Amino acid sequence: MTHRILIDPVTRIEGHAKISILLDEAGNVWDAEFHVVEFRGFEKFCEGRPMSEMPGITPRICGICPVSHLLASAKAGDAILAVAIPPAADKLRRMMNLAQIVQSHALSFFYLSAPDFLLGWDTPPADRNVFGIVRSHPDLARAGIRLRQFGQEVIEILGGRKIHPAWAVPGGVRSALSEEGRDRIRSGLPEAFRTSRIALDLFKKTLETHHQETEIFGNFPSLFMALVADDGTWEHHGGNLRFVDSSGSIIADRIEPHRYQEFIGESVQNNSYLKSPYYLPIGLPGGMYRVGPLARLNVCEHMGVPQAEAELRAFKKLGRGAVTSSFLYHYARLIEILAGLEYIERGLDDPDLLSDDLRADAGINSLRGVGASEAPRGTLFHDYTVNRDGILQKVNLIIATGQNNLAMNRTVAQIARFYVRGKEIPEPMLNRIEHGIRCYDPCLSCSTHAIGKMPLHVQLIAADGTVINEVTRG
Ligand code: MG
Ligand code: NI
Repeated sequence: MTHRILIDPVTRIEGHAKISILLDEAGNVWDAEFHVVEFRGFEKFCEGRPMSEMPGITPRICGICPVSHLLASAKAGDAILAVAIPPAADKLRRMMNLAQIVQSHALSFFYLSAPDFLLGWDTPPADRNVFGIVRSHPDLARAGIRLRQFGQEVIEILGGRKIHPAWAVPGGVRSALSEEGRDRIRSGLPEAFRTSRIALDLFKKTLETHHQETEIFGNFPSLFMALVADDGTWEHHGGNLRFVDSSGSIIADRIEPHRYQEFIGESVQNNSYLKSPYYLPIGLPGGMYRVGPLARLNVCEHMGVPQAEAELRAFKKLGRGAVTSSFLYHYARLIEILAGLEYIERGLDDPDLLSDDLRADAGINSLRGVGASEAPRGTLFHDYTVNRDGILQKVNLIIATGQNNLAMNRTVAQIARFYVRGKEIPEPMLNRIEHGIRCYDPCLSCSTHAIGKMPLHVQLIAADGTVINEVTRG
């Protein structure tokens, strides 16, 4: 018998999620599946189009993270032209990626996640959102909104447009940074630094009262993957791939991104269009890996900038080897905001930044190009195969949300195991499941190409496959 309950809106997840919680014969939770129930077909959509059109097309892949797709696409294009891009172009692209990390992490922390731990897990959903924060913590809310605006403004100053900056192109970037633009960025930094410190202090205090969340919101061993510099410094746009295990040991290192297929397998999950990548040499289930802020901080040995370095030292003490709780994605995100600001500040002093040598011109010199960049949510791959005329023959995109899919399933199962007794779907569990997913800051728009927010749909499924209870929110 199916029992459907409708609960108030505000799911604060981008896209359409359906969650199945699977019970064993004894009625205990044994697994969970996070399904993406719409088909995008974006890779097919690109085939037959000129590679040169990709900078204009990338915003259509995802309206939430167009900057990340633009930068990965431009790098794939560089590889097809087989050029080394001018240093100024690389530095400007990096600055845009840092700004994207700052604005996206600020959105995730202040708008999407903080309402739960600042207002209380069991506050009614109608109040547990950014407007609730505006009422209860007006200064903090304003600071968070302004931090996000700062990141967006840097993107706008660099790219000329806020939302769809088709500015990075194969071979470089289209336009230089003006002295006036540089000064505007600089003037926003002091306030952004202050806000990032306030958020870090706040989250550290939150941790003191959130032992249970740290324990059950995705705390399990897994591998972690990210780009990192060859000397172990945190990276976000260059470097090579590294995998570490939960003891913190490096299991694969200095993997050039174009070799990703030797290390990443893509499994297909029933009832979902989202593929689940895994570490190929180990296979499944042991090859599950996580990407994004938590992974980047587990993979790197130092931040390369002093304030974030001090924070990294404290962060690393939370794990024996790697830090394994996904609740600490929030912490990692805040350290990355600080690092992003420090790197932006450092970059502004570089005289190269105002250079007009911005683009290497070339024809098609390689029939395949892979571009990898660290999107706020994790490593993003664009893999293009073209013909001699530069027409895309094959496109493979590997997005962060897909790579975290297996870990998100594990997280939901871990939370459900704590709450589910019998056939009931307890109300307090729903928000915690949503938050467990929100730790990963998934972009379901990347995964589904869906517009707008769609409901969260949770089903409790018995061992014989019958749906014994379900709840829809949104
Ligand atoms: Mg793909
Ligand atoms: Ni996206």
